[in-house]
Amino acid sequence: MPAFSAAQISDAELALLADYVYGLGGPAPGPAPTPTPTPPPGATPTPTPSPTGPRAGATVFSTYCAGCHGANGQGTAVAPRNAGTAPALVTAKVRSGGGIMPAFGAAQISDAELALLADYVYGLGAPTPTPTPLPPGVTPTPTPTPTPTGPRDGATVFATYCAVCHGAYGQGTSTAPDIAGKSRSDVREKVRKGKEGRMPAFGRELISNVELDALATYVRNLPSD
Ligand code: HEC
Ligand code: HEC
Repeated sequence: MPAFSAAQISDAELALLADYVYGLGGPAPGPAPTPTPTPPPGATPTPTPSPTGPRAGATVFSTYCAGCHGANGQGTAVAPRNAGTAPALVTAKVRSGGGIMPAFGAAQISDAELALLADYVYGLGAPTPTPTPLPPGVTPTPTPTPTPTGPRDGATVFATYCAVCHGAYGQGTSTAPDIAGKSRSDVREKVRKGKEGRMPAFGRELISNVELDALATYVRNLPSD
């Protein structure tokens, strides 16, 4: 082996080299981690199964029911009040659907979730407790005025009223067609008019004109294939 002078390898470099050679004797690195597969473009996303067990009744209700029946099941222009309905009736109705109400299969709402949902809907009908009268001389604390919320954005309106039938990305389901990329005027007209027996008409009390405008843009921009 030739001798290497400081002109070829400086003292500082020699120190680094020595450490490097020593390190080469360390344990062999383990197998490289396998890369996570990326789905091909345009693939329909597979829903990830929730590792957390059944969703709570309130969660299922706000996901699938509140859009038509109202946040507390109080009823809207599109669907009747369902708060307080007997659990057995809720269970039957959710699986069968009827009128414009879609049927929800076990893939959307599992049996365990349906049982929780039915109890939740029944519970919504419980009377609100009457406030205890204040003792004389006590002034009631004013209830805070709710902060006025501005118009909801297109994504929110879509998730609330449309995704249940047209799918989370407007890609279509067994109940309703693909609407991703539909023109703004198609969306505006369809939302206000609906389709007899198949799609509810949504009036201004549910979706304001400003919100409809945002919704139409949102649907127009949903990627279609
Ligand atoms: C697209 C709108 C829509 C959605 C979403 C929807 N419903 Fe309905 N639902 C209706 C309409 C309209 C009716 C009344 C028509 C009928 O009874 O056939 C109804 C009726 C019902 C009834 C019967 C009420 C009664 O007193 O007869 C129950 C219970 C009910 N829905 C529960 C649910 C639950 C729970 C969900 C969520 C999993 C849900 N609905 C989602 C529109 C909807
Ligand atoms: C209860 C299920 C249901 C809900 C909720 C619903 N739709 Fe529909 N929608 C349908 C069905 C079914 C059709 C097909 C009707 C037909 O045959 O004309 C349709 C048709 C449409 C069309 C026309 C599609 C085409 O090919 O011409 C548009 C646009 C549309 N819906 C937008 C919306 C938007 C936006 C919302 C939310 C505000 C919404 N829909 C909510 C069931 C639904």
